[in-house]
Amino acid sequence: MNDQELYSRLQELRQKINYHNFRYHVLDDPEISDAEFDQLLVALREIENEHPEWITPDSPTQRAGAPPVEKFTKIAHPAPILSLGNAFNITEVKAWYERIARLDERVRQVDFVVEPKIDGLTVVLHYRQGVFVQGATRGDGEIGEDITHNLRTIRALPLRIPVNPQGPAAPAYFVVRGEAFIPIAEFEKLNRRLAEAGERTYQNPRNTAAGSLRQLDPALTASRPLTLLVYQIVAADGDIPTTQIATRQLLKDLGFPVPAATYCQSIDEVIQVCIEGEKKRDTYPYEIDGLVIKINDLILANELGSVGKDPRGALAFKFAAQEVTTRLLDIGVNVGRTGVLTPYAILDPVEIGGVIVRQATLHNFDFIEEKDIRIGDRVLVKRAGDVIPYVIGPIPELRDGSQIPYQPPSTCPACNQPVEHLEGEVAWYCVNSACPAQLIRNLEHFVSRGAMDIVGLGIKIVIQLVEAGLVKDVADLYALDQESLLKLEGFATKKAENIIDAIEASRQRPLASLITGLGIHGVGEVLAQDLTRHFRSLDELARATQSDLENIEGVGPNIARSIVDWFQNPANQKVLQKLRTFGVWPQAQVEEKPLQNQSLAGLTFVVTGTLAGLTRDEAREFIQALGGKVSSSVSSKTDYLVVGENPGSKFDRAQELGVKIIDEAGLRELAQK
Ligand code: IVH
Repeated sequence: MNDQELYSRLQELRQKINYHNFRYHVLDDPEISDAEFDQLLVALREIENEHPEWITPDSPTQRAGAPPVEKFTKIAHPAPILSLGNAFNITEVKAWYERIARLDERVRQVDFVVEPKIDGLTVVLHYRQGVFVQGATRGDGEIGEDITHNLRTIRALPLRIPVNPQGPAAPAYFVVRGEAFIPIAEFEKLNRRLAEAGERTYQNPRNTAAGSLRQLDPALTASRPLTLLVYQIVAADGDIPTTQIATRQLLKDLGFPVPAATYCQSIDEVIQVCIEGEKKRDTYPYEIDGLVIKINDLILANELGSVGKDPRGALAFKFAAQEVTTRLLDIGVNVGRTGVLTPYAILDPVEIGGVIVRQATLHNFDFIEEKDIRIGDRVLVKRAGDVIPYVIGPIPELRDGSQIPYQPPSTCPACNQPVEHLEGEVAWYCVNSACPAQLIRNLEHFVSRGAMDIVGLGIKIVIQLVEAGLVKDVADLYALDQESLLKLEGFATKKAENIIDAIEASRQRPLASLITGLGIHGVGEVLAQDLTRHFRSLDELARATQSDLENIEGVGPNIARSIVDWFQNPANQKVLQKLRTFGVWPQAQVEEKPLQNQSLAGLTFVVTGTLAGLTRDEAREFIQALGGKVSSSVSSKTDYLVVGENPGSKFDRAQELGVKIIDEAGLRELAQK
């Protein structure tokens, strides 16, 4: 291919990637597999590696990887980013309507659009010639902070509009407003992962989203499951739609994710939607704190003006707060699969948003200490969407002296063995591998969907199996027979048969599912999958050394250590032995890899600082694809240190040891040889 053809290919790839990204992250309706998507990205990276001068900020390869900033600069908004007036009940909604209808008779004829009021963070996105060039926080409504690089990491944010080339042309200058947030399910997943790794969990989706967007290092933002919904045009060149319905349609056609909405012909319909909406608040995949009622006619809405920062043409109908106070009766402690102890609040039962809440999350023992939560305190508890209710804090003014400060347990509540604290983690662990609480959680994890997927074997049966002494580790599942199941309470032939069949079927699961199921600290579904690309059986994985593992992307020293430790533990070796005997020993499918030149074979590299054309991960992939090894620290075995801007202490160390130092261009040169 000549350069011109290569450049068209690059443009075609970018457009395809943007389109499939949109199908996946905006429409939630992908047309191609993840692997096919990855292939497109790899192909684009190859061209960009060859022609770094063609890399532009709106290339899909540039979503993550911008260097950290020292502080955020200020950006003036092109028009004020207004707030909204609130109505806390239907009477106040009617009062708002009457007020504006008295002001302007035309209001009596208007129709409305009602949208969810997303509890996230307002963001303002600037596009020039269809390219995302800048993004800001709301700030004080006049001036916000430049968080462009962080916003670029949000996959639902189109880097180029229209996403679909058949879509309408984007105005040359186009500024929109939306809400960035973390969906509830993603938030819970993030917290589960952190808890299992013994790290501090986040308190709620909104604060986590806010914190993530205000990270100085975009790589951190990229690691948080942020997404976006866009609902307003703030400024544009040329004509823009004059109704909210048409605005939404244009935004959608350009490829923006747009919130759900209900069209209402009259204020009576609006009121009906508000009443119904409050009942349905838990059905949204994200936290909402109300509904936004918008006059569909945006010209009229604009003419109505505003009261201070609140436009008259729109109103927030706020749902009743889902925060209540109640008494903290006691603090219970759960033992997780990895032995992590997590405290939870046992509450005087209280109704929050139509649900009786008896327990709530207390995050971790440090949280209890920091907030000085005492047993017997009145505590503020919040429930939102499907988020597990959590304690916000105590109300110390309401203490009467009977409250008792809390002491974390020194022994495991399930097995009474002493608990341990690992350096650098917030969590306390029960390290007794025979702890029944851990065994139950371990089995629950082993049979779960992301692991061996043993259908029908739920937590209740798991507990029965452990209590009856039928199962002492995960391998014992494969030694169960119908007869022993039939001795358990509530089992008839059919149920026993089904469970045995489901266990049998799980023998066919791929290696990655089994690795996930083992419950190795820090090894979830994604990493398990990655591991099977490097190790084709449990034998191979068991032989891996700390440094073999650290060479794999996504595996840091802690996870590498935890994998090595797991395989060295005699109790685990026994389980593996049993699994092998029972024939549960899958092998990974060998992937056909196109033969690449292996110009870096036999060489070990360390990368430091920010490279111009590659992120750290991309540099690692680049080196590994050409047969090189990447290590995380400089030693006498290092052949080359690849240095970018702002290198760290590795640079000094390499100089000390006389390791050869090259930059990105030098690396590419080596690769050509
Ligand atoms: S419209 C003039 N629509 O709620 C238009 N705002 O107190 C005013 N919000 O921080 C905003 N979802 O960012 C609008 N569907 C939605 C919204 C929404 C959430 C936020 C908004 C602002 C707050 C208003």
